[in-house]
Amino acid sequence: MLSRLPTTTALDDSDLSPQDFALVARLAYDHSGITLPENKRILVASRLAKLVRERGCTLSAFISEAAQNASTRQALIQALTTNHTRFFREPHHFTHFVQHVRPQILAAVDQKHPVRMWSAGSSSGEEVHSLAMSLLGNNRVEAKRISKANIAILATDINHDVLNIGRAGRYDGDARSEIPADLAALWLTDDTRHVQMTDMVRKIVRFRHLNLIGDWPIRTNFDVIFCRNTMIYFDAPTTEKLQCRLIQQLRPGGHFYIGHSERLIGRAATLVENVGQTIFRKAVS
Ligand SMILES: C[S@@+](CC[C@H](N)C(=O)[O-])C[C@H]1O[C@@H](n2cnc3c(N)ncnc32)[C@H](O)[C@@H]1O
Repeated sequence: MLSRLPTTTALDDSDLSPQDFALVARLAYDHSGITLPENKRILVASRLAKLVRERGCTLSAFISEAAQNASTRQALIQALTTNHTRFFREPHHFTHFVQHVRPQILAAVDQKHPVRMWSAGSSSGEEVHSLAMSLLGNNRVEAKRISKANIAILATDINHDVLNIGRAGRYDGDARSEIPADLAALWLTDDTRHVQMTDMVRKIVRFRHLNLIGDWPIRTNFDVIFCRNTMIYFDAPTTEKLQCRLIQQLRPGGHFYIGHSERLIGRAATLVENVGQTIFRKAVS
């Protein structure tokens, strides 16, 4: 049973003791790979304070409960994730995809081969929807042909809340300005305050909960994997292991896109060739 707070008590950063912070950091690392250095203590305290207020318990009781109970721990980890994203973030990746990878995918579609792509650490779906729109393109007839092919784009994240936003495919109206006008004209509908991804886009994207440092119930090999701005929260051994696993999940000739401040580490760097700024290709053996 969680200790209740008197309703008037306000939480401040000092409520997160060094021992409690150490326990949060261990839980985050063991269950999500996220590292929390000491200089994140105030940030952690403020993120957890909101949760604790909603639950009406003390911070310390919440953290102890998270150590014992998987659903409380999931809530804690969700609160610690940073979900910042936007449509067409790092636009050179989408330019590369359209110029170099999309033509191969269209050839695969013509030959009735399956096409699989993955946004790993998708957050609320802006990245995967950017990829889907880039794939469908700005020609409605061609897009219809693509959408009927054996194509699936997987979007995974550890945070259920952001996955639900992605599934709904509904974003603040401001998002329209991030999307090239020709694609927005075809793939968005809007009311006064929101934009909505159309069904043709949503139909080729599947959102699933997946912990990147856990087991992956994935049997397929991918033509394209985006894993961007997620590994920055991991330490070097976790990052190297994850990169090797992701590359193993690529089919020969498949492309791997990472975030602008990330780099391939150790063995991972030997498994692919660098074909652009933070873009890699697995050799065809
Ligand atoms: C900053 S967002 C990146 C979103 C998008 N890839 C981009 O570059 O705009 C990082 C995402 O990684 C997710 N994440 C962090 N640790 C994870 C893990 N162990 N497994 C799966 N997703 C994780 C977070 O929930 C968050 O939504």
